[in-house]
Amino acid sequence: MSDVTVTYDENAAAPADPSDSLFARACRGERTSRPPVWFMRQAGRSLPEYRRLREGVPMLESCTRPDMVTEITLQPVRRYGVDAAIFYSDIVVPLRAVGVDVDVKPGIGPVLDQPIRSRADLDRLRPLEPGEVSFVDEAVRALVGELGGTPLIGFAGAPFTLASYLVEGGPSKHHEVTKALMHSDPDLWHELLSRVAGISAMFLDVQVRAGASAVQLFDSWAGALSAADYAKYVHPHSAEVLDSVIDVPRIHFGVGTSEFLPLMASAGADVVGVDWRLPLDEAALRVPGKPLQGNLDPALLGADWPVIEREVHRIVAEGRRAPAHIFNLGHGVLPTTDPDVLARVVETVQAAGGPGTGSGTGAA
Ligand code: CP3
Repeated sequence: MSDVTVTYDENAAAPADPSDSLFARACRGERTSRPPVWFMRQAGRSLPEYRRLREGVPMLESCTRPDMVTEITLQPVRRYGVDAAIFYSDIVVPLRAVGVDVDVKPGIGPVLDQPIRSRADLDRLRPLEPGEVSFVDEAVRALVGELGGTPLIGFAGAPFTLASYLVEGGPSKHHEVTKALMHSDPDLWHELLSRVAGISAMFLDVQVRAGASAVQLFDSWAGALSAADYAKYVHPHSAEVLDSVIDVPRIHFGVGTSEFLPLMASAGADVVGVDWRLPLDEAALRVPGKPLQGNLDPALLGADWPVIEREVHRIVAEGRRAPAHIFNLGHGVLPTTDPDVLARVVETVQAAGGPGTGSGTGAA
C-alpha cells in the first residue's frame, strides 16, 4: 500500500476521470487527506424525489427502465455531492432475468412463490445471458456519461444472501431452511451456490464492461453463519464471484461478519466493508493492509445532531488506522432517515482531514 503525495484540492470539482477520483484512490489503498463518502441505499425511499418518480411503478419494473435507473442513481449524487454513485437496481434483478418468479414486496423485500429446495428446482436457475439484462448495460453507459469524474459502483448479491431468499422464499430471521439444506445435502447446496455465483458474476461483468468503476458484493445475511460454516459452504462461491471481476476494485460487504472478517477479505476483496458493530481501528487489526469501508450505524441517524457529529469524527479518526478509508454507513440508509441529516454527514466528512491529519507522507 503506497502513500501518495496529494497535489490538488480534494474538495474541488471531481477530476474528469473516475479512476483519479478520491474514491478510486482509496480503493487502491492510497492514503487520502479525507475519506471519500457514499451511502449504501443512498438512492431510495428516504428521498422524496425518488418516491415521486416511483409512484405507480413496481420496484423491479423501475430497474428495467434505463431512464428511471439513471435518474434515481443520480438523485443522491446531486442532492448530497457524495463521492460515488451506486447503481440503482436490486440483488434479485438477475434472478428475475433468468426467469425466477421473484418479486420485491414493499416493506417486506424479495419474495418467491416457489422456493428452490430440490435438485429439480435447480433447473429454474439457468446461467444469465448478458442480453437478458441489456437494460443494465444501457443504464450504466448513460450514467457513466452523465457522471463524468464521479465513479459509479456496480453491485451484486453474494451467493449466500441470494440463496437464502431462493431457499426460504422470502426474508428470514433464522435462515433455518437454508441451513438445513446446507448441512443435509451439501452436494445440492454447492450446486445451488455455484449457479447463483455464475449469475452474480455475469451481472457484475455486464456492469463493469459498460463502465462501472468498482463493484460491491453484498452479503447482507452472511452474519447468520458461524465462521466454520462460512468457510466451508460459502467462501469458495463468493471467491468465485470476486475472482471473476477484472480490472476494477472489489468491495466485499457483510452484516454481522466481524467474527470472520479475514475470510471476507481472503474471498478476494480489495476493500472490506465493515458494519457498525466493529470499530474500524479493530477491523484494521483483523484485516491488516486492507482499505476499509464503513461504518456509521444507520439507526443513529435519527439521534440529535451532536451525537451524529461525534460519531462521524470518531469513525474518521478510527478509519485512519487502515491504509485507506471510505466513509459509509454500517448498512443501508433506513427509509425514515431525514435526507438533511445525510447532507450534513457528507459535509462533515468532506470537511474532515486537511493538513497533518492523514495525508500520508505529509507532502501535500
Ligand atoms: O442506493 C443503493 O444502494 C442502490 C440500490 C440498491 C437497492 N437494493 C434498491 C432497493 C441496492 C444496492 C440494493 C441491494 C439489496 N437488495 C440488498 C443488499 C443490501 C442490503 O441492504 O443489505 C438486499 C438484501 C436487497 C433485497 C431487498 N430489496 C430488500 C431487503 C428490500 C427492501 C424491502 C422493503 O421495502 O423494506 C428491497 C427493495 C429495494 N431495493 C428498495 C430499493 C430502493 C425499496 C423499494 C421501494 O421503494 O419500495
